[in-house]
Amino acid sequence: MSDDQPIYSIENLFIDLYATTVSVRAVDGVSFNVRPGETVAVVGESGSGKTVMTLGPLGLLPEGVTVDMKGSARADGSELLSIGSRQLSDLRGRYFGVIFQDPMSALNPMLKIGPQLARQARRFAGLSREAARKQAVSLLARSGIPDPEDRYNRYPHEMSGGMLQRAMIALALAARPRVLIADEPTTALDATVQAQILELIRQIQREDGIAVVLITHDIGVVASVADRVIVLYAGQVAEEGTAMDVLTRPVHPYTRGLLASVPDFRADDNVATREIPGLPPSQIRLEPGCRFADRCELVEPGCRKHRPPLQTISISANPHRVACPVVLRREGIAVHV
Ligand SMILES: Nc1ncnc2c1ncn2[C@@H]1O[C@H](COP(=O)(O)OP(=O)(O)OP(=O)(O)O)[C@@H](O)[C@H]1O
Ligand SMILES: [Mg+2]
Repeated sequence: MSDDQPIYSIENLFIDLYATTVSVRAVDGVSFNVRPGETVAVVGESGSGKTVMTLGPLGLLPEGVTVDMKGSARADGSELLSIGSRQLSDLRGRYFGVIFQDPMSALNPMLKIGPQLARQARRFAGLSREAARKQAVSLLARSGIPDPEDRYNRYPHEMSGGMLQRAMIALALAARPRVLIADEPTTALDATVQAQILELIRQIQREDGIAVVLITHDIGVVASVADRVIVLYAGQVAEEGTAMDVLTRPVHPYTRGLLASVPDFRADDNVATREIPGLPPSQIRLEPGCRFADRCELVEPGCRKHRPPLQTISISANPHRVACPVVLRREGIAVHV
């Protein structure tokens, strides 16, 4: 990786959502970045803030909820949280490609597939009508859609779930983005199609050198495609490091719990697979202190008083950050200052 500068960086991001009567702090002081050619996986239980954190700065949260964002999200020299909606829409079109869990949230059911891709390529990559058409056909082919000339003229409802997912990937790539954001791109698909779609994303990344932010519940997916992992718990980063470090030497009790609940990733084969007891906290009334305290085996009185700082440790040569001073102290893990 020659270029080490992040091409998308989020710094101390807070996102509050207000819906009718309640407000939720969905993202609570999160920082992360991604570099060209790198895949960063974001993992965490349902409701931990993965989608809000990645789609919020792009202005892609559903309508009907008021969003209040603080902090910073920088891409292409712009501050996403303060640029105008036209500039944001332009940046979203040409710099970011987004793959959603449900293809129909990106595709227009009323328009044929090919022209949707061509329109994107004309608008954001500045191609001529003919060049955009050609590129759309080649993107369909590259996304593994057989007979792309014929599919060009099909409507979304004429395609299967797996083919639609591929068409959405083609759409996300149509403007040649620098950052691809994939929010649970394979959850709705069967295992074989899942593997094919992930391979497709990986292949595109290798060929184009783009950065990928991959949101997933599936630790197996993390192991096979991610360079780095961010473990999110109740809107905060619990642990961050290379996929290798986090999966093989998890430190935060929450990460350990997540891995212990996946049969293939038990740290010790003699320990039975088990779920983390309890549920994530309500993000409506937030207590001070560690969000994981109520579910944690290592909890101490101090954990409920102060938010645990994200500290850099050095158990391998790569940066690894953990927000649990208790486990670091108990296991004598040195903190890097
Ligand atoms: N449209 C909305 N209106 C109100 N609250 C919302 C909305 N979308 C998300 N939230 C709240 O924001 C928090 C974070 O949700 P988010 O969807 O980012 O979680 P997630 O990690 O993506 O979960 P999942 O794995 O289920 O997709 C949750 O507490 C959720 O209830
Ligand atoms: Mg989500």
